[in-house]
Amino acid sequence: MRKLSIFTVTLITIIAFNLFYIPRAIAQINLTQINQNIHEPSKLFEINCAGCHLNGGNIIRRGKNLKLKALQKNSYDTPESIATIITNGKNNMSAYGDRLSKQQINDLSNYILNQAKNNWK
Ligand code: HEC
Repeated sequence: MRKLSIFTVTLITIIAFNLFYIPRAIAQINLTQINQNIHEPSKLFEINCAGCHLNGGNIIRRGKNLKLKALQKNSYDTPESIATIITNGKNNMSAYGDRLSKQQINDLSNYILNQAKNNWK
């Protein structure tokens, strides 16, 4: 009986892990492949960032948005600091270092700063 329950628990754990992990892995591979062919920063933003940062907002942490005032307040007002958060992620924002090239991350950083200066118009 005890053996059976350990077996069951192990099996459920494996199934649960795969249910969680496989779709995530597929999504990540797809995103990497899609990104490879895209060089336009506004398109990269649309695909990778707009889900949380539509029009420069932030649906998860409202104060940590991409408007110039917030970027200045949170010290993300240089291309270098923006590139760092894109590459490494932070808290609920995932890292993009393995999904975007260095060039794409640099272009995106400049794009965000320019958009912020234009008030995301
Ligand atoms: C799943 C939602 C999500 C996605 C997708 C996402 N972010 Fe974020 N982003 C966040 C969260 C949450 C924070 C706040 C992190 C913190 O400081 O705790 C954040 C913070 C930032 C900041 C700092 C803003 C500030 O005022 O402090 C920048 C810049 C940024 N993200 C850029 C991007 C870029 C560029 C992309 C796409 C490559 C992206 N984010 C994708 C959720 C996301």
